[in-house]
Amino acid sequence: MALRWNDTLKTSLAWQDAQHQEVFARVDELLEAMYSGSDVPKLDVLFDHVRASLVKHFATEEQFMLRMMCPGFVKHKEAHAAFLEQLPAVRNKLANATAKQIVEIQMFFATWLRQHILTLDRSAAAHVSQRESSAGRNTA
Ligand SMILES: [Fe+2]
Ligand SMILES: [Fe+2]
Repeated sequence: MALRWNDTLKTSLAWQDAQHQEVFARVDELLEAMYSGSDVPKLDVLFDHVRASLVKHFATEEQFMLRMMCPGFVKHKEAHAAFLEQLPAVRNKLANATAKQIVEIQMFFATWLRQHILTLDRSAAAHVSQRESSAGRNTA
C-alpha cells in the first residue's frame, strides 16, 4: 500500500472525488510495481496510465471551471500545466530506482496531489457548489 486517496481529500463534487481516486489508484499501481521490482517496459506502461489519468482529469476540471466561471481559473490551469511538465523528469527515474528514490517519487506525487486538492481544487469546488445549489445542477 503506497498511496491511497481518503475522505480527508474530499471536495464537494462527487465526480471530482471519483477522478482524484482514479489518479491515486494509477499512481499507487506504479509505486507498487516499482517496490516489487517490475521491469522498465512495465513501469513505462504504468507511468503512461498515470499521465493519462492526470491529463484527462485536468482537462475535465478545466472545462468545468471555465463553464462555471470559477475565479482563479488561469492560476489553476497553470498549476496543472506546471505539474505535467515535471513528469518527464520523474519518468527518467523509473529505471533501477533505489528504495529511497521510490519514496521520493511517492512523496512527489503525494505532496503535490494533496496540496493541490486541498487548496485550488477544493476552492473551485466550493465556488461551483455554491453556484450550483441555486441552479440545481452539479455535474461535470
Ligand atoms: Fe486541479
Ligand atoms: Fe483535481
